[in-house]
Amino acid sequence: MSHLLSIVLGFLTYSSNVLGSQTPLGSCTLDACLTNLPYRVVLPDSPNYALASRAYNRRLTIHPIGVVYPTTPAEVSAAVLCASSCGTPVVARSGGHSYAGYSLGGQDGSLVVDLSGLNGVVFESEGEIMHVQTGNRLGDVANALKGVGRALPHGTCPPVGLGGHAAFGGFGFASREWGLLLDRMIGAEIVLADGRVVNASLEENPDLFWAIRGSVSSFGIATSYTFVTLPEPPVTTPYSYVFAGNASSAAQCFFAFQEFSATSAPPPLGMQFSIIPDLTYELFGSYTGPKEDFEAAFLPLVRECEKTSDQHSGTHEFAQEMGWEAYLVSQAGTPPRVADCFYAKSLMTAESTPLSLSTIENFMNYLYTEGPKHGHLSWFVEVDVYGGVGSAINAVPKLDTSFTHRDRLLGFQLYASSGNLRPPFPENGYAFVDGMAEALRSGSESASFGSYANYVDPLLKEQDWKMMYYGKEIYERLTTIKAKWDPDAVFNFPQVIPPPLEAEKEGRRVVDEL
Ligand SMILES: Cc1cc2nc3c(=O)[nH]c(=O)nc-3n(C[C@H](O)[C@H](O)[C@H](O)COP(=O)(O)OP(=O)(O)OC[C@H]3O[C@@H](n4cnc5c(N)ncnc54)[C@H](O)[C@@H]3O)c2cc1C
Ligand SMILES: *[C@@H]1O[C@H](CO)[C@@H](O)[C@H](O)[C@H]1NC(C)=O
Ligand SMILES: *[C@@H]1O[C@H](CO)[C@@H](O)[C@H](O)[C@H]1NC(C)=O
Repeated sequence: MSHLLSIVLGFLTYSSNVLGSQTPLGSCTLDACLTNLPYRVVLPDSPNYALASRAYNRRLTIHPIGVVYPTTPAEVSAAVLCASSCGTPVVARSGGHSYAGYSLGGQDGSLVVDLSGLNGVVFESEGEIMHVQTGNRLGDVANALKGVGRALPHGTCPPVGLGGHAAFGGFGFASREWGLLLDRMIGAEIVLADGRVVNASLEENPDLFWAIRGSVSSFGIATSYTFVTLPEPPVTTPYSYVFAGNASSAAQCFFAFQEFSATSAPPPLGMQFSIIPDLTYELFGSYTGPKEDFEAAFLPLVRECEKTSDQHSGTHEFAQEMGWEAYLVSQAGTPPRVADCFYAKSLMTAESTPLSLSTIENFMNYLYTEGPKHGHLSWFVEVDVYGGVGSAINAVPKLDTSFTHRDRLLGFQLYASSGNLRPPFPENGYAFVDGMAEALRSGSESASFGSYANYVDPLLKEQDWKMMYYGKEIYERLTTIKAKWDPDAVFNFPQVIPPPLEAEKEGRRVVDEL
């Protein structure tokens, strides 16, 4: 279908709906429709409802209209049709780790389609091609890959769900060499707003496939993703170097880290700079390859940071070569965090405008001054390296997927939890995290900042999330695709891609394209 035709069709579908085919909500019997589904359904009066509707981020309490547990794409479709016929918004839940509770709807009154019953994995071509249903978690994916000696780039926390992780990015320490998880995706199976189950790839429904890789939840429920896997690397070297010092030594080390990331770090080197409440700072990550090669590449940066750090406080050093599986286990966290109560923001810097030393100093001064005043919070700052010479993430042309960040150097995560990871979240925790972001924004570099949608931030203002997650061009293209595949916004939540209502109503967009 031509681009223009699809826009016109989207326009017509939208108009016909506005002009009178909308379901009279009063006559709708969602509960009856849901109760008739031949699989597990949890409604608010059920004793299981509290558990079924609990957010990973306990800061948030959200009341969905029901949680359903289909086990096939056809069963997912039946649930979507129940909700769409009643005008009830639908969201998918894979691992449930959305920072903003968006897999519970992000607000009260949504239907949650829990995908944990869709957990199949099928390999083709001796493991090179992996079809994996979206109820799987990253730990399940890693286990299945292990069985065929293959690997994928992804985050290291085993309970994180594949559904969200792969659709909004999927960053791991192998990503500078192998790309994001979404960059390995070659196909997906999607349940649409009208209940159809379709495949999407570069050949089939390519606009949908483009939108899924960066923004899946606005377009449908992905029941399966297909990836091209990589051979499991023979050895990997995880590492950690911890330093103690003050705001100025942390700024010096960070400045060297940024410079090294941009100019010297080879692609197999995955890197993170972090700071925690004891005000030690750490260079952390892994190198996909032997320890000897790792040290040759990385120790110059360590020596640079040692020049300004406090030598008397017992600098911790660790680097050890191991197999891929042992590496993944070493990163998993023991035990992995199963719940949290937190507020977080994400800021990504542009390769073309690295942070100035004065911005970095402002940021470190803020942490070293304000951090100790917030001892009741458990907080961290983690800075991942996305770019630099030879980065596979940035090698992907900007418009190939709806994931927009192909020119980023660093991704900051600014994060504070309540002290015991349980509610309530202390009220001044918001200002503390916002202050971190303001300190980073103190320089002119901030005009080019973006934000990572997998660290979704429900408090970003409307104009900000549109521009920071997507940017103008990709955002506008997404709204057009939304109009075609989900004109009535059946898939709906805060920060959803809306159909281009106003423009379409006036027919302006169609005329412009003509
Ligand atoms: C402890 C922890 C560690 C993390 N580590 C990393 C990391 O190393 N690297 C990184 O990149 N990110 C990391 N993240 C962020 C993580 O990638 C996101 O939170 C991700 O979106 C979670 O996916 P999920 O399926 O568990 O979440 P969910 O809450 O189930 O889903 C997230 C969003 O995607 C939608 N969605 C989920 N599945 C589907 C589907 N099949 N079809 C349509 N929409 C769907 C949901 O509706 C929701 O809007 C981490 C998060 C946590 C909590
Ligand atoms: C989608 O692709 C799979 C194989 O990859 C196939 O089995 C299935 O029939 C396809 N579905 C549709 C609707 O074309
Ligand atoms: C940080 O520590 C160094 C070395 O100990 C010292 O020279 C410097 O004055 C300190 N800076 C601040 C801001 O405290």
